[in-house]
Amino acid sequence: MALLGCGVVGSQVARLLQEQADDLAARVGAPLELAGVAVRKMSRKRDVDLDPELLTTDAHALVTRPDVDVVVEVIGGIEPARGLILAAMAEGKSIVSANKALLAEDGATLHAANQADLYFEAAVAGAIPLIRPLRESLAGDRVHRVLGIVNGTTNYILDKMDSTGASFTDALEEAQSLGYAEADPTADIEGFDAAAKAAILAGIAFHSRVTAADVHREGITGVSASDVASAKAMGYVIKLLAICARSDDGRSIGVRVHPAMIPRTHPLAGVREAYNAVFVEAESAGRLMFYGAGAGGAPTASAVLGDIVAVARNRIAGTRGPSESVYADLAVHPMGET
Ligand code: HSE
Repeated sequence: MALLGCGVVGSQVARLLQEQADDLAARVGAPLELAGVAVRKMSRKRDVDLDPELLTTDAHALVTRPDVDVVVEVIGGIEPARGLILAAMAEGKSIVSANKALLAEDGATLHAANQADLYFEAAVAGAIPLIRPLRESLAGDRVHRVLGIVNGTTNYILDKMDSTGASFTDALEEAQSLGYAEADPTADIEGFDAAAKAAILAGIAFHSRVTAADVHREGITGVSASDVASAKAMGYVIKLLAICARSDDGRSIGVRVHPAMIPRTHPLAGVREAYNAVFVEAESAGRLMFYGAGAGGAPTASAVLGDIVAVARNRIAGTRGPSESVYADLAVHPMGET
């Protein structure tokens, strides 16, 4: 196996692979051997003790090595991640990726090039199982709506504003000091991160092709302390919601991300701090709620490890897991108009 990236998530993946090697080998039926870890800088301090021999800056050589059959990509961003995944796919490797930006922008290219497995549970809502339930457990149902909180940083900021009356700027600074928000928080607070996740969820839920550009997006920078206080006085709380919905006639879908007022009695109103929660509404299953840690190194690594075990089992069995097949040619309207 090759690991691409050894940052917040990658270092936790490497740690768990080492610490749980025996359990994982028993579950898979063969040891999961780390052949190498591609990093940008050899000398950086990392949150895991790694054999220095494993580190390399030549990611392309690593992913095309004949002894590597699974490539785990946790570097994020479009390039070089896309080129490396495509190079690995051309050699028939199985891919595990946590890269929401790439999957939301160009998932179609990856799915078309995939010859083995492409699993990406960690790309949406960290530790919360959402991709597998939508792709597998609900594959026989008809999903009407996926709705929820898929960005932990903005939920933390809005929760602080609601519970303490803090301004947006002060709440953002606190989120940054706690390590929730990036030094450049644009992707979170402007809704790009949530829009990418919404595109991925909508594509799988509705068996259609949706990209981040199809998503109506509004972040939380315009939400003031007085907006939050007024909502509170009326019995509401403001949350950044991702909403993916099929039209009543079933012929189109709408995907949007924007702040919304939610009654304080609604289960989403109780989602505090940096947690995520997603409702899936399906014809036969009814309403399902998924809740948990949507970000952070260890929770996201848990989802990555689950995918690694799944693709390793598939390789041993000589089979493939589900692919993201497109069956429905649905029009995508950002706000859901039909
Ligand atoms: N920045 C993201 C969040 C990390 O706050 O939810 C997980 O994708």
